[in-house]
Amino acid sequence: RQRESQSLYQLTDKAAEFYREQLRNHPAAGNAVAYLRNRGLSGEIARDFDIGLAPPGWDNLLNALADTPEKADQLELAGLAIRRQDSDGNSKPGGRHHYDRFRNRIIFPIRDQRGRTIAFGGRVLGDEKPKYLNSPETPIFHKSRELYGLWEARQANRNLERLIVVEGYMDVVALAQFDIRYAVATLGTACGEEHIQLAFRHTSELLFCFDGDRAGRAAARRALESALPHMQDGRSLRFLLLPEGEDPDTLVRQLGGERFQQLIEEQARPLEDFLFDLLSEDINLQTMDGRARLSKLAAPLLDLLPGGVYRQLMFQQLASRTGLDKDTLQEVIHAEKARNT
Ligand code: GTP
Ligand code: MN
Ligand code: MN
Ligand code: MN
Ligand code: MN
Repeated sequence: RQRESQSLYQLTDKAAEFYREQLRNHPAAGNAVAYLRNRGLSGEIARDFDIGLAPPGWDNLLNALADTPEKADQLELAGLAIRRQDSDGNSKPGGRHHYDRFRNRIIFPIRDQRGRTIAFGGRVLGDEKPKYLNSPETPIFHKSRELYGLWEARQANRNLERLIVVEGYMDVVALAQFDIRYAVATLGTACGEEHIQLAFRHTSELLFCFDGDRAGRAAARRALESALPHMQDGRSLRFLLLPEGEDPDTLVRQLGGERFQQLIEEQARPLEDFLFDLLSEDINLQTMDGRARLSKLAAPLLDLLPGGVYRQLMFQQLASRTGLDKDTLQEVIHAEKARNT
């Protein structure tokens, strides 16, 4: 099993090298380079993140890395080649049983905490769908446990005072371009508890900065729930929802690095404000019914908090917003738990 992983790491590493090389030398690289320039990225940042190109065509990577059927099978295991549906029986002798997963895309290598390349994200150069394609789960890649940009952030900072969690590869890279080298992204998946734990292993302050769109708001809500169980005293969590239609990439390019950081300082809201505002959104707290609804929504969420001063303070907040005392809130929690099981 370990030997198998060993060879997968070697293979993803070679693939990263291949993609990087294509961005330099492939005849079609001009388009890709122009695309990256257009999005404001310098060669230096492209190198820091090891950005590459999967050229057009069905078997560039296979031709480069798989001169035997066994190696093609290995590429499949690494998530880099896909087995043809008709690969049994009617495929021609000498013909390939696989094709490249990543074709005609900008390639973002995903590194683990030790800097080993374990997977890739690929973006189309135009408007084709799907916009992004990610490696599937493999023996060395579990997307619920990895954060894009974490390794790069650790390389750039001796101590990570904070991490900004964003949605996309381009957000991480664009922020780095403006010298904000402490952004990470989940990989086309919701921010789950394992992401939160991983991030809190490296810093005590997280700042979520999601897109100003419906997906971004949903992502923030989901991240909030994942984070609550991990809010030990001394950790801090803030949220910044961007203006409609903006994401960290578009915004930092408009504002520049300094003003972007200033915006964060001024507008990011601490967990306690964000949570109560979010839950109170469609609720009129002037009415008894409204206060009852808020306690039913909030009590089970606050119950996710680990024991500590912060938990006590949050329950006090809820108590003062609803006019209920602690014992009554406990009853609400039990009732809601019973109702949801
Ligand atoms: P750009 O258009 O390059 O700026 O991308 P973006 O990161 O702003 O994209 P968007 O806000 O639409 O989506 C956020 C993240 O969700 C992306 O970075 C991807 O990781 C993921 N994502 C977006 N579209 C797709 C898709 O079509 N397929 C998959 N698997 N993931 C996607
Ligand atoms: Mn085969
Ligand atoms: Mn979005
Ligand atoms: Mn976006
Ligand atoms: Mn974007």
